[in-house]
Amino acid sequence: MISNDDIAGKVVLDVGCNSGALTLRLASLHRPKWMLGIDLDGHLIRDAARHAQHEYSLVGGPDDEPGYFPDAMVAIHGSTPLPDGWRKDGYLVSSLSEVPNLVDRARKHVRWECDAVGAVLPGTLRFAAADVAKEDLSALEGKFDTILALSVTKWIHLHGRDNGIRDFFHTVYRLLVPGGTFIVEPQPFDSYLKSKLKKFNPPELQFRPDAFPAFLTSLGFDPLADTHPDPTTTARGFETRHVQRWRKRATRSPPPAPARQPRD
Ligand SMILES: C[S@@+](CC[C@H](N)C(=O)[O-])C[C@H]1O[C@@H](n2cnc3c(N)ncnc32)[C@H](O)[C@@H]1O
Repeated sequence: MISNDDIAGKVVLDVGCNSGALTLRLASLHRPKWMLGIDLDGHLIRDAARHAQHEYSLVGGPDDEPGYFPDAMVAIHGSTPLPDGWRKDGYLVSSLSEVPNLVDRARKHVRWECDAVGAVLPGTLRFAAADVAKEDLSALEGKFDTILALSVTKWIHLHGRDNGIRDFFHTVYRLLVPGGTFIVEPQPFDSYLKSKLKKFNPPELQFRPDAFPAFLTSLGFDPLADTHPDPTTTARGFETRHVQRWRKRATRSPPPAPARQPRD
């Protein structure tokens, strides 16, 4: 559902990365130039950092053969130490303020060699605890080639209401480089109705997921592909999810951000 071209050699943001399972899978499959997973839950971010160190351990570090350190060895002996200069929580950024420098450095210096053995290197992957709806992300504008929002729009919408999800799409637009790719998996409105919390009151929402495409188009995105699973597929889980791919138009100067409206 997500192609190599969306990630390989790109600077990628994964919004709502949870404990990093998908982020890590995509990073190790496709080798981004640099990738950041953010989630509002700091506990999940700490789990993601642990999982990243585990993944790193499986390839044994840059001087060893791929796969020399199997899963069982990590279970018995613990994770391989991260390279010099990296703290034990080297995959974790506590503040987004260091992200612009990290991105700029990665754009200049990160070159994957075809024989590179570290599928997930600490220098190319970070996780941070951040609420995309509340954090000031202005320093990250125009930094990302690809932004992923997988299984997260429903939560942003339920918490932030109609203006909250619109603001989120504006934010994505501003954080992407011109020509950048937005990969979104809008959860269907039916699934909103399953949320038990009374305060969410989904029927009150006016801006439904089937209106997202028209809104994204009006913001300055062009549709790339709306990927639906092949009905004959035997794939399970990740491969069967519906995602839409959008390209930010390559205009010179993006439209200014809308004035933030009060939450409805
Ligand atoms: C269902 S999980 C999706 C995990 C992963 N993206 C995937 O597709 O498998 C949704 C995640 O989004 C996070 N989330 C919800 N609202 C968020 C927000 N405003 N900012 C950052 N993360 C958010 C939640 O904490 C949760 O971990």
